[in-house]
Amino acid sequence: MTDTDRELRVSKIRNGTVIDHLAAGQALNVLALLGIDGSGGESVSVGINVPSDKLATKDIVKVEDRELSQSEVDVLSVISPEATINIIRDYEVVEKQRIDRPESVEGVLACPNRNCITSGSEPIRTRFAVLDEGLRCHYCGEIVREAEVTDHLTVA
Ligand code: CTP
Ligand code: ZN
Repeated sequence: MTDTDRELRVSKIRNGTVIDHLAAGQALNVLALLGIDGSGGESVSVGINVPSDKLATKDIVKVEDRELSQSEVDVLSVISPEATINIIRDYEVVEKQRIDRPESVEGVLACPNRNCITSGSEPIRTRFAVLDEGLRCHYCGEIVREAEVTDHLTVA
């Protein structure tokens, strides 16, 4: 199989966002992060464990007619720091965003600690520090490990 054949494994999109170089196994988490389950009628292509030049294998998600919010990019940076985000307009890549691991993420995860002040009825924006071992709640110190991040998402 030639490289070109590989590139065409998931076809090009006209407008939207290509989330490329996702760590293998992250595509479905990214769909969850974006709130995509097919019911919204979005056109989405997903490649799982596809060959890659830079990684042994990668996942890739192509979402038509949609760009990502900063909160979504922040969560993406935690679950797959190597990912690249390509903005596509009229079939061309018009912007290539590398994502940096943020120091903290706000308003995107619910704290799993039921006694946390952010779990109460008062609306308090959640804040987690991004550490090597996971995310730590600014208010109560609860740790959310990276593998659990997608279980606690509040962004859709
Ligand atoms: N892509 C797409 N539809 C388009 C244009 C590009 O789906 N109309 C996809 C490509 O298949 C690739 C990604 O967007 O997965 C980035 O495209 P491009 O920058 O052209 O590819 P590379 O140079 O290989 O990107 P990188 O350097 O990030 O590996
Ligand atoms: Zn907390």
